[in-house]
Amino acid sequence: MAPRILVADDDMTLQKLFFHSLKMEGYEVIAAHDGIEALDKAIKERPDLIILDVMMPGLNGFDVARKLRENPATLTLPIIMLTGLSDVQERITGIRSGVDEYVTKPVDLRELAARVDGLLKRNRQLRQHAISKMGKVVSLIGAKGGVGVTTIALNLAALFSKNDKSVILAELRADYGTLSVLLKTPAEHNLGNLLKLETSAITETMVAAELYNTDFGVRVLFGPQRIEEYCVPEAAKYAAILERLSRLADFVIVDVSTAPDPAHEAIVRNSAQILLLTEPEVTSVAAALPRLRQMEHWGAAAGMVGIVVVNRQGTMMLSLREIENRIGKPVIGVAPPATEVLGIAVQYGTPLATYQPEHVTIKNLGELVTRLIEKPVSLPVS
Ligand SMILES: Nc1ncnc2c1ncn2[C@@H]1O[C@H](COP(=O)(O)OP(=O)(O)OP(=O)(O)O)[C@@H](O)[C@H]1O
Ligand SMILES: [Mg+2]
Repeated sequence: MAPRILVADDDMTLQKLFFHSLKMEGYEVIAAHDGIEALDKAIKERPDLIILDVMMPGLNGFDVARKLRENPATLTLPIIMLTGLSDVQERITGIRSGVDEYVTKPVDLRELAARVDGLLKRNRQLRQHAISKMGKVVSLIGAKGGVGVTTIALNLAALFSKNDKSVILAELRADYGTLSVLLKTPAEHNLGNLLKLETSAITETMVAAELYNTDFGVRVLFGPQRIEEYCVPEAAKYAAILERLSRLADFVIVDVSTAPDPAHEAIVRNSAQILLLTEPEVTSVAAALPRLRQMEHWGAAAGMVGIVVVNRQGTMMLSLREIENRIGKPVIGVAPPATEVLGIAVQYGTPLATYQPEHVTIKNLGELVTRLIEKPVSLPVS
């Protein structure tokens, strides 16, 4: 896709000139004729770069630059400003407003093209670098309620930590989260406090302040606890929280509620790997299929989803092969029954992975964690 350039200038002759020249260079060009339109289009049309004239009706170029830098959506948008020849004061004001480059008027079109090209390249490199340093989001979704998502998520997180990975376990749901019960924690710091904020105010620092440090190395973002904290989930807020979390750890393990709400969609869209949990019986496996279709509809790529079979009852009503055939995805992990020991671990407020690290369920989950660390794409166990 051709990079998009937003040109904000009230001079129609110059607009036309830039438009043709940038088109010739292979860019897609959008025009704005005053500062307010420039700001509006910078947010709505998501350009890759903006060229701003200083003098414009409404907001001037400096005001626009300042506002772009205040908004998380446009914080890193490259800005080129058109200024009068050798106007040092304008350049200083521009630097303070967050402008990246200058082109002096009268504009030399070759210079403008070179600056656009250079700035786009630099920004692309910075973005790639930032992405490569971001943690991987692994989300756990139940075929239906109560299949063991919270229990397995907690133990996987503990096992990632045992493998010396920095890990955050996030209970990203709109209503009560039971992780606080499993860890015997009042969880006053929780997701509810973040969901109260405007999306633009959900910064890395704010998210970090809601994390709880456990003694088994995992940092936890608990789900809402009080009914006043329940809310209608907004996709943008969940996406922002996930983005901040993935800057804070190597792995973010997400406990997803079963409701197919906008939060669910945002989580699926921002995950690198999705574990679809099911019990080895007919109803659970049948429920897994529409859930999978929905995830695919939201953009989950084929290799992203793997099945984890949680055998809570201790009877395999369906074989692993049969489950794979019915759902059409590989089984990448199996959790054997652990009813009693799980009950005791809850009483201690600790994950089974720390209470009984040698238990067969934990051994199996440990193998899954090793594979998730080593391989981005799921491979079947059977
Ligand atoms: N491998 C297992 N063997 C036996 N019991 C299990 C196993 N895994 C989970 N459970 C039990 O299943 C019950 C439900 O687990 P959990 O709360 O983790 O499910 P969930 O999918 O998160 O539920 P919800 O949909 O309510 O969020 C708990 O009592 C838990 O101890
Ligand atoms: Mg749960």
